[in-house]
Order: sequence, then C-alpha cells, then structure tokens
Amino acid sequence: MKKLLFGALVLSFMSACNNDTISNQEDASQDPGTASGMTASKRACPSDLIREKALKSDPALRARFEANELQSENFLRDLSMGKVLADGTVEIPVVFNVIYNTSSQNVSDARIAEQIAVLNADYGATNSDINKIPAAFQPSAAGNVKISFKLVATNRKQSTKTGWRSDLEEMKKSTTGGINATDPTKNMNIWVVNSILDEDSQPGTLGYAYYPESAGLWYDGLVIGYQYIGKTGASAPFNLGRTVTHEVGHYLNLPHLWGSSNTGCQTDYSNDTPASPGPNFGTPSYPLNKVCGGVSRSQMFMNYMDYVDDKAMFMFSANQKTRMQAVVAAAGPRAGLR
Ligand code: ARG
Ligand code: ZN
Ligand code: CA
Repeated sequence: MKKLLFGALVLSFMSACNNDTISNQEDASQDPGTASGMTASKRACPSDLIREKALKSDPALRARFEANELQSENFLRDLSMGKVLADGTVEIPVVFNVIYNTSSQNVSDARIAEQIAVLNADYGATNSDINKIPAAFQPSAAGNVKISFKLVATNRKQSTKTGWRSDLEEMKKSTTGGINATDPTKNMNIWVVNSILDEDSQPGTLGYAYYPESAGLWYDGLVIGYQYIGKTGASAPFNLGRTVTHEVGHYLNLPHLWGSSNTGCQTDYSNDTPASPGPNFGTPSYPLNKVCGGVSRSQMFMNYMDYVDDKAMFMFSANQKTRMQAVVAAAGPRAGLR
C-alpha cells in the first residue's frame, strides 16, 4: 500500500502538466473549494494554449513548427512506402537503363534480378564468401550495412552505337541516342552499355559512378558494361556482380582504398582500412604487405573498393558502413532516395 502511494506521488510529479502553475491558478480561481485548486474534472494541460500564443507572436517559431511537421510527415510517408524498413534499413529504388546493339548485349531480366540479389547480399553481409574475411580484419568488418536495393523499372533501347564515351555521357540523354535518367534524386540509375570508352575513344573500364556531390544531376548514377551485370553469362573474372557493388560504393561516397588519386597512399576517410599505395589485381594471397609513408601494412585487398577479381572481394569495413549511412541519412546528400 505504501509502495502504491509513493508510486502515485512520483507519477504526479513526473507529469509536468498536472503541476503547471498556470493550470493551478486557473483551477484555483474557478474552484476555490479545494486547497490545491485541483479537481479531477478541471485539470487541463496548458501546453497547447501556450504554444498557440507563442506561434502567433513569433514567426520564426512558427517556421520551425512547420518544418518539424513536414519532417514528421515525410518520415511517415517514407515508412509507408517501405523505403525505410522496420529495422532502419534504407531501401534504394533502382532503375536499369539498358542500351544495346546486339541482342546478347540486351541483358535479361533474370540477369538484372541476379545483380540486385548480389547487391542485397553484399550490402547485407549475407554473401556466401563472407566467412573468408581474415581473422585480423574481422573486428573491422561492416556487417549489415543496412542499405538494400529494389528494382523499380527497366528501360531498354536499341542503338547502332558500339561504344559510349564516359566524358560525353551520351548514354544518359535521349537526344544523343541514350536514355534519360528516371528522377535521379529519387532513384539510383544504372546505364548498361556495350562498351565504355575514354576521351580518346579507348576501352579500359568495367564501370564508373558519380559521388554524392552529383546527387540528382542528370548524369548521376552508374554506367556498367553489359558483360559485368549479374552472374549468368557474365564475363570471368568479373562474373559475380561485384563491379556494381564497387560502383555503388563510389555512389555512396567510398573512395578507393588508396584514396581518390592515382598517386596512392591518400586517405579514403576510413580509419579501419589500412593505407594503400595503389590497386591490387587478380586474386592476391593473404597476407599481403605494402608500404605507405615508410610503414608496412597488411592490405585489405578483399575490400570491395579494391580492384581484385570478383571472387577475391567480399567485405566493407565498419567505417565505410558509417560513411554510406551518412549519405542516405535523413539529412544526407542522398536523402532523396529514402
Ligand atoms: N572501375 C573499376 C575497374 O574498371 C571497377 C572495378 C570492379 N572490380 C571488380 N572486381 N568487379 O577496374
Ligand atoms: Zn572504382
Ligand atoms: Ca583508410
């Protein structure tokens, strides 16, 4: 019984409105019969009254109120659209734009589905080779990045062009034979082309992507050679869908392990990826030590942001996860994807 009484006392103190001086005074004037001025039927919470007065007299406060309501509304809408899943995973809508010359370059829906599945496995840390992470790197492994991918549209177009220059971005405009992006603020666009050429019209890359400062621009997104989409019929040793995993890393603000310059040993802004002088290729054997600034470090060449073969890469780091989460956070540069 004592315990119950004490509990009730604590509860009444915790409830700010019940102890508010304004309501006490008002109640007291209307009901002088009780010592405290409180009756069960007349107590009221003045929060709304106070707010109403304040919002009327202070436009800055009203603007803040309206912004808060808008944010709350957007949050609810995103939840109901399923873009932010119950466990906080941000689901990115993906649009494939396939531009082909021959029919074999017109990658099938099945291969595109395989590619989406690879992304969801790699970013969800459910990839079958995750157990290959060396013990020394396990403490810095990302685990579930909590970003998932959902195919929302596939657009196809035949073209007589046999190569597409990355510097001209011709594949991204209908006026130059390409396919226009589907609202790049809300969707991650992936253009699939028969051959990616540099400014000298030379081939030499599997794919490329834009970093978050290009969010929403007409050319924002990824460009990938058709040979590297999905698994079935893809071109070894890049036939496990990891070219897209790597390019999505750039899209979500991850530089290469050696930094964003060919000089190497630059920062990638992740403390848990050892400094690296440059790319690794093929299937290196662990451990592999390389020197930056006179210090030899065991290289995390199995990170998706290196250049090794698809079967040799199988992890992001925890710091990389945090960087990607920052990009898709409600206040992040790619919040429009949520
Ligand atoms: N742009 C990079 C390149 O062309 C992509 C590397 C992807 N690596 C991979 N194993 N798929 O080399
Ligand atoms: Zn890259
Ligand atoms: Ca690093």
